[in-house]
Amino acid sequence: MIHETKSGKHSKKILVLGALGQIGSVLTQRLCKLHGKSNVIASDIRKNRNSNTDNNFIILDATDYLAVKEAVINFSIDTVYLMAAMLSAEVEKKPAIGWNVNTKPLLVTLDLAKKGIIKQLFWPSSIAVFGPSTPKINTPQLTIMDPTTIYGIAKLAGERWCEYYKIKFGIDVRSLRYPGIISWQSLPGGGTTDYAVHIFKELIDKGAYTCFLKSKTKLPMMYIDDAVRATTEIMSAEADKLTVNSSYNLAAITFDPNQLFKRIKKFLPKSKINYEPDFRQEIADSWPKTIDDSQANKDWGWKSNYDLDMICEEMLENIKI
Ligand code: SER
Repeated sequence: MIHETKSGKHSKKILVLGALGQIGSVLTQRLCKLHGKSNVIASDIRKNRNSNTDNNFIILDATDYLAVKEAVINFSIDTVYLMAAMLSAEVEKKPAIGWNVNTKPLLVTLDLAKKGIIKQLFWPSSIAVFGPSTPKINTPQLTIMDPTTIYGIAKLAGERWCEYYKIKFGIDVRSLRYPGIISWQSLPGGGTTDYAVHIFKELIDKGAYTCFLKSKTKLPMMYIDDAVRATTEIMSAEADKLTVNSSYNLAAITFDPNQLFKRIKKFLPKSKINYEPDFRQEIADSWPKTIDDSQANKDWGWKSNYDLDMICEEMLENIKI
């Protein structure tokens, strides 16, 4: 259903699944600004302090077909952002739960889209769809994909489901392969790229950080503002401009823990780091170092804004508060 706003413009009615997560929380705020708070229903499987007082927040298990269907119908939702997920390292520890959380909600929402109950769907993929045989530099949009994590296998399967449903049933599902996301609003949990968030907090709080990846482990990364903007931009792009039916490569910057540490040390000169790589090193080694996102640029004008210095300044400013 299309909703009329005060300005007379037609507005979407949106449901965010996983609205308390690292990306979901910031995305929800942005969607409220873009579409009006009354047009955005935020949901998650758990409550947090702020959500207690928020009328537009509901508890919802994204794996529960009937519950999601009921919410979509009751709130006259047309657009769903499916942000509920478990990240790579966490899924390696709990593979069965991780597989369920990372695949079932997609099948639920794709089916509701096939039935015409959802009109537009966003689903996040990841650089984890790539694997050891994938070219690591400037990884192309279409290339070898041999993920070695359950998380990556689930994301790759999800991409295939999206493409299948889009081609076979004509549904409007859009997706991005996010790189590691750096944010200060909420701490990420269970990701291989999470060191790039934890390092800020630890260096501010304790002046020292023990990194779980080796110093020269380069990975593609992105600031949260860029990630959220990419998400809203692909969702508002004209459908006939989108040539990728699975998920778009998306890139911003690439750095390793040593480069990030040196940059933060400019602002916090007494900082110290040491390296104790664990099982996450193997995961990181299987992922690309840089990503070719020229197709996203060509099709819907994607361009990142934040370089490493800008990210460091924003992170240090906001985490300090
Ligand atoms: N940032 C994610 C992770 O590290 C990858 O998508 O698991």
